[in-house]
Amino acid sequence: MIHTARFLVSNSSVDQCPKSSLPEYAFIGRSNVGKSSIINALTNNKKLAKTSRTPGKTKLINHFLINGAWCLVDLPGYGYAKISKHERKELKTLIQRYFSKRKQLVNTFVLIDSRHKPQDIDVNFINTLGAKQYPFSIVFTKVDKLSNTQRQNNISVYKSHLLDQGWENVPPLFESSAKTGEGKKEILNYIETINSNL
Ligand code: GTP
Ligand code: MG
Repeated sequence: MIHTARFLVSNSSVDQCPKSSLPEYAFIGRSNVGKSSIINALTNNKKLAKTSRTPGKTKLINHFLINGAWCLVDLPGYGYAKISKHERKELKTLIQRYFSKRKQLVNTFVLIDSRHKPQDIDVNFINTLGAKQYPFSIVFTKVDKLSNTQRQNNISVYKSHLLDQGWENVPPLFESSAKTGEGKKEILNYIETINSNL
């Protein structure tokens, strides 16, 4: 259960992120996939993380303190086309540095838009996390926009695609909607289980 959630800090550099050793859970994925929205849904606070219809809203690493005990982290989206080459390179370095330096990171939720077929940019990102043995789970977002049949079909296509990549097991999968609140309970339970085993 989340009792309290508050914004801590936004950073454009990993070295400036909070020094405390509180465990943290990061949300990453393509621009506009719903990273900020899911943080707001999980915390029941529509204004906590800034969301936008326009992709590329989150450009910084944003820490939110939950129950005074752990953090949710809203990361910039990858794969946003409408930024300069220079800015894209900077964001890429920022994200890479976050994953390689942040010892507090205990799990990453990779968000995938449930409406689409597997996209190289996401699959490559997942493969990189796997190769580096960073723990992660996959969250299929915006399931409210699909019929049950489409949704089951898309998710099973995704699973097969991951297995085709040479994965022996698929990572934990969640289905979520920031609109209906579906998947919140499962994601929070997952976080609580990890926290209680730390
Ligand atoms: P960037 O910060 O730009 O990388 O985007 P983001 O991944 O944080 O996405 P954000 O949460 O800002 O959501 C993008 C748009 O999708 C907004 O218009 C949201 O209202 C919408 N959205 C997010 N999640 C859902 C969902 O589960 N269902 C529906 N229907 N819309 C959603
Ligand atoms: Mg965002």
